[in-house]
Amino acid sequence: MKIAPLTDEDRVSVRVLELACIKEYVEECMKRSWDEFDLDVRQKLGASASGSFGHYRDSGLSFVAKEGDQVIGFIFAQIINWIDGIEKVVWVENIGVDPEFRRMGIGYMLLRHLAEEGVKQGAQLVHSSISPDNISSLLLHKKMNFLAEDRKIAYLDLSTFV
Ligand SMILES: CC(C)(COP(=O)(O)OP(=O)(O)OC[C@H]1O[C@@H](n2cnc3c(N)ncnc32)[C@H](O)[C@@H]1OP(=O)(O)O)[C@@H](O)C(=O)NCCC(=O)NCCS
Repeated sequence: MKIAPLTDEDRVSVRVLELACIKEYVEECMKRSWDEFDLDVRQKLGASASGSFGHYRDSGLSFVAKEGDQVIGFIFAQIINWIDGIEKVVWVENIGVDPEFRRMGIGYMLLRHLAEEGVKQGAQLVHSSISPDNISSLLLHKKMNFLAEDRKIAYLDLSTFV
């Protein structure tokens, strides 16, 4: 297994894997049916969607885990210049591992690799948004010593703001 920067070559396989992970989250954590999401909505989901793939590829902080040529894991991230008075914060947009390769330390290695590369880019902190019902993700972040208590991010949908 190797961890490599995300490239155009990975585009199709990382898209398939990220959508499979989102589908799993929708069905298993949100207890909703994937069929509720029509094609238009599905096309926009995830960091690997056509509108954002290039942004994450160019961030220098998005990586894939590969077994031979097969993409078996991914992490999409970027640097945000200021959050909470802290300059240069790594924002983790999404992480996922192929179900057949889980509990082998790949998610942990992807997060560690990201943190190491973040340090090289001058980052001081990593932020990751975790749904409280996503136990495996929460435990993975705790293993990396993320502080996950009492943290919530509120958001306002500006498309409905008047
Ligand atoms: C969350 C996810 C990325 C973890 O990837 P992974 O490669 O299986 O994780 P690792 O093998 O590196 O696990 C590292 C640690 O996390 C914890 N952990 C991960 N999955 C766990 C599970 N299902 N149950 C309990 N602990 C778990 C354990 O502490 C584990 O260490 P250990 O194996 O020494 O006990 C993977 O489950 C996944 O892709 N889930 C679907 C997508 C998703 O929910 N992404 C997160 C969006 S924020």
